[in-house]
Amino acid sequence: MSNAVTINDVGPRDGLQNQPVSLSPEKRVELIKALLKSGMDHIEVGSFVSPKAVPAMIETDRVLAALDGQPGDFSVLVPNMKGYELARAAGARCVVMVLYGTDGMARANVNMSRAEAEQVMVQILQRAAADGLRVLATIAVSWECPFDGLVAADTVADISRRFLDLGAAQVVLADSIGAANPQQVRALSTMLVNEFGAERLACHFHDTRAMGLANVFAALESGIRSFDSSIGGLGGCPFAPGASGNVATEDVVMMLEQMGYDTGIDLQELMNASQLAATLTTNAPGGRAKAWLDRHLSGK
Ligand code: COA
Ligand code: ZN
Repeated sequence: MSNAVTINDVGPRDGLQNQPVSLSPEKRVELIKALLKSGMDHIEVGSFVSPKAVPAMIETDRVLAALDGQPGDFSVLVPNMKGYELARAAGARCVVMVLYGTDGMARANVNMSRAEAEQVMVQILQRAAADGLRVLATIAVSWECPFDGLVAADTVADISRRFLDLGAAQVVLADSIGAANPQQVRALSTMLVNEFGAERLACHFHDTRAMGLANVFAALESGIRSFDSSIGGLGGCPFAPGASGNVATEDVVMMLEQMGYDTGIDLQELMNASQLAATLTTNAPGGRAKAWLDRHLSGK
């Protein structure tokens, strides 16, 4: 099994969408470039959503324009066909579309039922195939929903099967509120890896209950080699009560590298990006290992 692990930093989208202060496109690009400098080559750089719903993500088109020519695999989140059209017009090569384990979360997030969101996804996949764009299908609340409770593994397997068959490049299992424990993560990820293979699966954990890293490890043990995380642990979904930030990228990279996996990311540069995230937002929590990493990397 491969030793290489792909880290996709979602801080510039999942992290920044929830900040009390919105950052200008220039500042968001500064953070993205700091991530690129660390060797991070997969970044979710923004979203094309209603500016009323998520004011912090306005002008994602300017973010994409500023990144033109930069080496990296940049994705943007789209909630509906209008978002897809705007993303395509702005030159996006990869879009993230969100599906839902429950109706309650679909309603809170995009004011649609679960089935309606799936219908939109089918249309986006058709359009993206014609336009030559990649589509990642994130399944929000793959384990537990703040509104509707536990989500059955069979439900997530059915959604995954349907959308992988329809041409989604990857299914991203998202613990949107950070409620899953490692046993639940291992059970679902093993089941899906056995059916679909690890290459077409990724995981996205929030650290609300301090189980983010343990959940990364559980999914890793099932064979998954692709993870979302957020620089400085930024984030929290504005539509999911009580959710805190994503598992911090620096913690995930440190853990993986210490275990002999290869992320291709330079930790010193990553800590510079983490420091920039903290300076720009003034409230990035930083990874749990921040104090140790700062000391260790400065050689003190
Ligand atoms: N980009 C920009 N504007 C959009 C848009 C998009 N993708 N989709 C809709 N809009 C605009 C509409 O044009 C309309 O504008 P107007 O009021 O000036 O006429 C307004 O938003 C409302 O549109 P409507 O279709 O009625 O949507 P809604 O109010 O039911 O909201 C969403 C639905 C999906 C647009 C909104 O909930 C949303 O953007 N959610 C994003 C949630 C998110 O980012 N979650 C993060 C993932 S965890
Ligand atoms: Zn998230």
